[in-house]
Amino acid sequence: MTGNELVRQILTREEYQDHILGFDNFYASSMETIKDCLNNERFQFYQYDINNRKQMAKFESYINNIKEKFEEVIYINCAASVHTEHFYHVYETYETNVVGMNEFLQQAIRIGAQKYINCSTSEVYSMNSWNEYGGVKESDYITMSNAEHSQRTSYAAGKLLTEFFIKDAVNEGKIKGCSIRFANVYSRNERYPKHIIPYIINSLKNEGRVILLENSKKNRRTFLNNYDSCNAVLVLASTDSALDGSVYNVATDEEITIIDLVKLCAKKMRITDPKIEFKGYRESDPERRLLSTEKIKSKTQWKPQINLDNGLDECIAFYLKN
Ligand SMILES: NC(=O)c1ccc[n+]([C@@H]2O[C@H](COP(=O)([O-])OP(=O)(O)OC[C@H]3O[C@@H](n4cnc5c(N)ncnc54)[C@H](O)[C@@H]3O)[C@@H](O)[C@H]2O)c1
Repeated sequence: MTGNELVRQILTREEYQDHILGFDNFYASSMETIKDCLNNERFQFYQYDINNRKQMAKFESYINNIKEKFEEVIYINCAASVHTEHFYHVYETYETNVVGMNEFLQQAIRIGAQKYINCSTSEVYSMNSWNEYGGVKESDYITMSNAEHSQRTSYAAGKLLTEFFIKDAVNEGKIKGCSIRFANVYSRNERYPKHIIPYIINSLKNEGRVILLENSKKNRRTFLNNYDSCNAVLVLASTDSALDGSVYNVATDEEITIIDLVKLCAKKMRITDPKIEFKGYRESDPERRLLSTEKIKSKTQWKPQINLDNGLDECIAFYLKN
């Protein structure tokens, strides 16, 4: 989601003239997600695995060969094992999200890249994903569930470690950069049908009912459109003063219960009184996830531009058409 939307924004927004080298091993995506960008001469794409040393060495050599032509080189780390279904795969998560991230950071430092943007996650807030003052801050202490509760938190623990890697590299003067804690990103053309928004739309469309986890009787979330998450990456990448190795929350403050989300989607799809059933329970899933975005707003011009109402309209239009 993030990678292909970043490419699209860089290629289509007038203020960006950058050249992009991208890769994905299609663990959770496909060529379909970038096919509209492949013919652009400012974009080179490789089907590479971040854990494959030979492929990453080739990738490094491609950048070394052209870097002198450019004012700066920016690394953006989107490759990760992400979906809640994969959070429980401890070794895979460790290999890609932790070792892969660090190898990619070391590569950036070796080639003399100026900046590294690390996509972390709001999952690191774990059981303290909100507070009574209007959202959890980057500097708040974290209360993590752990292996006593659920293997799920291995994803968050791994991402938390990556925040230390980037902080260390910046402190040591090796590169500029930051980590971004996104919260519940969704996309208008999401291809992963198990993410909550496409799941709800698909269930309503195909079955006229939605089966939710028992957690959803209480859970509330905010949802960040991936236009806005990618815009935050680009805004941070071009704000040198913000690249101090620290962490930025990127989210909206439009909180909605999962049940109301189903009702809202149903209303937009002209389904009255949608059937909701509850089945299964997910351990270590916080009831709320509400982030303070004061820090990014005070250091950059970023603010979300797509509210949930408009974002859902785009998602529903996409799913009904396809
Ligand atoms: N989607 C969210 O709600 C969310 C929330 C917080 C943080 N993030 C973070 O944002 C970043 C981007 O996530 P996304 O939402 O675009 O998820 P995504 O799954 O759409 O993108 C991750 C991409 O990484 C690729 N990938 C996985 N393993 C790889 C490997 N070994 N080598 C090369 N590519 C590999 C996948 O095929 C996929 O295309 C990730 O670091 C993720 O942890 C996402």
